[in-house]
Amino acid sequence: MTSLREYHDRTKHSAVSVRSNQHFLDWANQPLPFKVYTTLDPIALPRDFAPSNVPALEALAATAPREPRHALPDRRALARLLHFSAGITRKKPYPGGQVMYFRAAACTGALYHIDLYVVCGDLPDLPAGVYHFSPQDFSLRRLRAGDYRGVLVDATAAEPSIAGAPAVIVCTSTFWRNAWKYQARAYRHCFWDNGTILANLLAVAAADGVAARVVLGFVDDAVNGLLGLDTQREVALSLVPVGDGATLPQPAPALTPLNLPTQQLSDHEVDYPLIREAHAASSLATAEEVRHWRSAAVTPRSPAAPSAIALQPLKDPPQRSIEDVILHRGSSRRFAHTPIGFGQLSSAVYAATRGVPADFLQTPAASLADCYLIDNAVDGLALGTYVFDHERDALEQLKTGDFRRQAGFLDLGQELAADAAVDFYLLADLDRVLARLGDRGYRAAQLESAIIGGKLYLASYALGLGATGLTFFDDDVTQFFSPHAAGKGVMFLVATGVPARRRI
Ligand SMILES: Cc1cc2nc3c(=O)[nH]c(=O)nc-3n(C[C@H](O)[C@H](O)[C@H](O)COP(=O)(O)O)c2cc1C
Repeated sequence: MTSLREYHDRTKHSAVSVRSNQHFLDWANQPLPFKVYTTLDPIALPRDFAPSNVPALEALAATAPREPRHALPDRRALARLLHFSAGITRKKPYPGGQVMYFRAAACTGALYHIDLYVVCGDLPDLPAGVYHFSPQDFSLRRLRAGDYRGVLVDATAAEPSIAGAPAVIVCTSTFWRNAWKYQARAYRHCFWDNGTILANLLAVAAADGVAARVVLGFVDDAVNGLLGLDTQREVALSLVPVGDGATLPQPAPALTPLNLPTQQLSDHEVDYPLIREAHAASSLATAEEVRHWRSAAVTPRSPAAPSAIALQPLKDPPQRSIEDVILHRGSSRRFAHTPIGFGQLSSAVYAATRGVPADFLQTPAASLADCYLIDNAVDGLALGTYVFDHERDALEQLKTGDFRRQAGFLDLGQELAADAAVDFYLLADLDRVLARLGDRGYRAAQLESAIIGGKLYLASYALGLGATGLTFFDDDVTQFFSPHAAGKGVMFLVATGVPARRRI
């Protein structure tokens, strides 16, 4: 069985691996970006949500709801969470009548391989059941009727936030929908693209007064079985309990196999065994394993060496609401070389690093990720490379100088990282993570980094800047930030700057 260390090493990009890869995009076989249940009726979701008016930077920084309001979410509260995390927010027509549907959160290759499901007890206007969220017609489709939350309580060894949740959102990936383009590296993208969705979801939940948390410790087979997934192709990645204060659900009805027909994704699918092996190796089989895994949750670190440069977030930051920022965001396709201010950089880093409420972190102040950055153009901060000292909210300088050329190499030679004002790299000490949390820890390190990356994305837009996720040459990045980063694995890259018009 493939260990997650092996998976990571075998899916690294290098100049040689990229040059020697024979893979090409088979456009005629491109998978659908939606899972479509062909025999289930849609249950329409309301679209008339009132804006929260909570400034995006505040919502991103929150680790719990500011004012708890929706202990028991209704259909509208759920619709709002689903829309602003995985809904269709933009349409782009192409010549020939084709329409491209963009979503609330950024996604590698715009392939949208992450699906959301809702498992709930009786809500004020939605009967208990297991539902699939269908962004294409903004509806739910009911896969099971009845209260099945007990399956999730058992699968998570009674994780308190799951046990008290009136509803749980389950995020899955259908591998082929991303592997069509990215091959075995798509397993990393499961967590990257789930992470950007969760950055949106946590912020919108906090703004709307809904408790939400990320739960990664669960018996995989139990959750996959509840959703009726064909686990060779689609698997559950994360659970997000929403709302709180519910009484512990009754034991769930017995599970029968679902076998519900869905629309074929493409003419044929290509299997990437490495993905399935990595998922199997990081799976948990029993509630006892889950309990043990959770007991190893990571504690906050003690401060590193004194760092010189304290963050200076803007005193009067932009007040755009989180919903407005999400509705109008789009990954930057080109950056101007115009500098951003140190206040803007500080506000983005501050908002994105207040912590992620998750079962693998003992408190939101703990983290598996280290944030490194390349400053290409920040007024008030010397050009060079830095590492963020999470405990002191300060930057420690690693190297001085202009590194645009190197930045433009490290992201696979794309101009975006060279032109951006700042490139944020999330790295994880994989030896430490895997020693503490086992192979499951790999999922946690990727997902937490992607949530922080997703928050950096949104914080940049909130500040009137542009941002884009990017991919990278793994070992070259580690080497570039070494000796400080020696031995660490690169999890996520996001570039921020002043957007420019695309070259034609
Ligand atoms: C983790 C991640 C990595 C990405 N990598 C690249 C990249 O290497 N190059 C690029 O041009 N865009 C990249 N993107 C941007 C996606 O192409 C973009 O999110 C997608 O097309 C959807 O568009 P939108 O973000 O404007 O909604 C990345 C996005 C994410 C989330």
